[in-house]
Amino acid sequence: MSGTFSLHLLLLLLLSLHSSSGSMAALTTQTLDIPPQYYNPKLPAHALSSSKKYEGSSDLVHLRYHMGPVLSSPINIYLIWYGKWNPSQKLIIKDFLLSISANHRAAASPSVSKWWSTASLYTDQTGANVSRTVLIAKEYVDQLYSQGTHLTRLSIQQVIGNAVKSAPFPVDHKNGIYLILTSSDVTVQDFCRAVCGFHYFTFPSMVGYTLPYAWVGNSGKQCPEVCAYPFATPGYMAGSGPGALAPPNGDVGVDGMISVIGHELAELSTNPLVNAWYAGEDPTAPTEIGDLCEGLYGTGGGGGYIGQVMRDGAGRTFNLNGRRGRRFLVQWIWSPILKACAGPNALD
Ligand SMILES: *[C@@H]1O[C@H](CO)[C@@H](O)[C@H](O)[C@H]1NC(C)=O
Repeated sequence: MSGTFSLHLLLLLLLSLHSSSGSMAALTTQTLDIPPQYYNPKLPAHALSSSKKYEGSSDLVHLRYHMGPVLSSPINIYLIWYGKWNPSQKLIIKDFLLSISANHRAAASPSVSKWWSTASLYTDQTGANVSRTVLIAKEYVDQLYSQGTHLTRLSIQQVIGNAVKSAPFPVDHKNGIYLILTSSDVTVQDFCRAVCGFHYFTFPSMVGYTLPYAWVGNSGKQCPEVCAYPFATPGYMAGSGPGALAPPNGDVGVDGMISVIGHELAELSTNPLVNAWYAGEDPTAPTEIGDLCEGLYGTGGGGGYIGQVMRDGAGRTFNLNGRRGRRFLVQWIWSPILKACAGPNALD
């Protein structure tokens, strides 16, 4: 749930064994085209790749449904820009969010909306699927840092509360996701040390209502080698580190956020009140559909490899296409059908 740095070695090993056979054939056919080309880069180890929380636990793959709701109506995102955001950064993120809906299937394959189709395989006890439609309902700008430049889990709720109280942000119990994004100068409780993003729900005492929300921070200036990996890798203080990959939209911090946003949205939609889809017996530390696949972006990932992804003519790495020709690198998510991590750029 928390975008923690869990890489479950066993799981990834199984995945790489499972999928190694398909990669050669696809490589050969791709070379006939001019770029983009498939490749599977091996990178220096992730700074916090082996989390104590999941290491050695075998209940990881027993993802279970706990009878709570999923987001089955068209999902309205209420977007909160906290701190200083420039228009080009906002556009990258909004293009990603607007690429999720099935009506943007026009995007080249493999597409963001096809990636989301794995999330829509999850249902609630009435048989209703997670919605394939994701909209940006409203935006709210908190550029004066109403709660300061350091946020805690509780002050994040305060920011949402302000947005809800000061119209035009409606209370949207049924379809709403409140997504708060902090700029690179904002520090957040546990950011970089334990999490790159998280989701939960608000408390009536703070916000007046119980509303599912997620936070994701721009790690560009604080810990790109942790939260914008693999666009920065451990090694050099301010540089992007040995072996770092070039980000698809030229912004290490924001391109790194895209995958974390995808991770949190997938989990929020399948486990909005933390009583629907998760693995593990402890609801205070659930392992959710994004956690299970962190660090995996394509076929044959694991053991330092991120999986088969694509590289364009300028050397920028991506695995998904979005609207308006945008490209993104987004981690895979767990499929309840395949009982494995899945993404539309799979080669097998
Ligand atoms: C809904 O979920 C079921 C069960 O996973 C799946 O078989 C079906 O294809 C899903 N429908 C859509 C529209 O995703």
